[in-house]
Amino acid sequence: MRCRGMRAFMMLDRLDPQSPDALLALIKMYAADNRSDKIDLGVGVYRTDEGDTPVFDAIKRAEQQLVDEQPSKSYLGPEGDMGFVNALMPYIFGEDATMGGRIAGMQTPGGTGAVRLAVALGQKAGMTKLHMGTPSWPNHAQILSDIAMEMAPFEHANADGTANVGAVLAAIRAAGPNEGILLHGCCHNPTGVDYSDEDWAAICDAIAETGIFPIIDTAYHGLGHGLDEDVAGLRSVLAKVPEAFIAYSCDKNFGMYRDRVGAFYILANVQETLDTAFSNANALARASWSMPPDHGAAAVRLILRDSKLTQIWQDELSEMRGRMAQVRVKLGEAGMQGSVDMTPLGSQKGLFSVLPVSKDQVAQLRSDHGIYMAGSGRINIAGLTMGNIDKFISAIAEVTGPDSDGA
Ligand code: LMR
Repeated sequence: MRCRGMRAFMMLDRLDPQSPDALLALIKMYAADNRSDKIDLGVGVYRTDEGDTPVFDAIKRAEQQLVDEQPSKSYLGPEGDMGFVNALMPYIFGEDATMGGRIAGMQTPGGTGAVRLAVALGQKAGMTKLHMGTPSWPNHAQILSDIAMEMAPFEHANADGTANVGAVLAAIRAAGPNEGILLHGCCHNPTGVDYSDEDWAAICDAIAETGIFPIIDTAYHGLGHGLDEDVAGLRSVLAKVPEAFIAYSCDKNFGMYRDRVGAFYILANVQETLDTAFSNANALARASWSMPPDHGAAAVRLILRDSKLTQIWQDELSEMRGRMAQVRVKLGEAGMQGSVDMTPLGSQKGLFSVLPVSKDQVAQLRSDHGIYMAGSGRINIAGLTMGNIDKFISAIAEVTGPDSDGA
């Protein structure tokens, strides 16, 4: 009904309806499914072998300490909790955590905030195009589109489940001035296909030769091979370039998901440039979210400043890694199931892998078997347990096999 006396055309009439984020929509669809044997392989949260996503013990202890001892919740500033930002640095950048004073960071609302800040700051500094391996985390493209940063896609992986190094090298070598490249530090989302040490060495050389600006998104640190191993590629790039951005997330490796704990780091050639870039990032943060949420970052800071809590956190992280490796071994050993060869999943890394299944097959897995995965065929490895993995493997065989009608 139109209100009397109002203008014939309202401003909001101009908006086109947007479909909900497909990945996040799966959370609700899964919750509404009453089947007791349903399997959630959708959004990227870690699950135990019992299918739970508990709060880390280290976090619980740090949170208790916060409740008992936090003196104030007064404002901190757009850069957030610098104790948290600095405490993370040795884990990301190694012993010389500031690379001789060339790195500075700030807290962001999750890894998403850090990626957004990286792209926005790149644009402010004159970046005109960002090269990106696809498929990628769907929100990467959404952020680029929202900021109006041109995206230049290249193939991230080959059909046999290995990294397409030729494609990334070609993209870097073809890049013009003022262009950047977005790389996943480890545990590639969605493919689980990471670059080998040799691949990183070639990528580093190409980046150093061309001067393309690297943005490295590291959202799964510690969930691949280990804390040092997972950032070896990132460190090798930083050792060779004058400037770079790093987007970092603690949402997975500290299990802080909804608390939105991230950090954004800038590597610059000289102190003066670093200070100026930092002041610009600070201004962008102030205009976007003003200040990041404190609670999760404060808890991470307490963990990293206490050796006992740090040990508890690292033990929890390696247990997660071990469990996912176990699931991957089982999937890899399953080999050919229907038309899907699961073998490459055994050697891929992190929370995700992509199955070569059609959208119809994804829909059939959901309707006939209560198995929820992204439309792209991405599965969250941690959603599989020793209790449901056999059901999953036989459902894949059934839905993609010769007698299926879901092809
Ligand atoms: C995912 O890819 O599932 C996670 O990174 C969650 C998200 O925000 O998309």
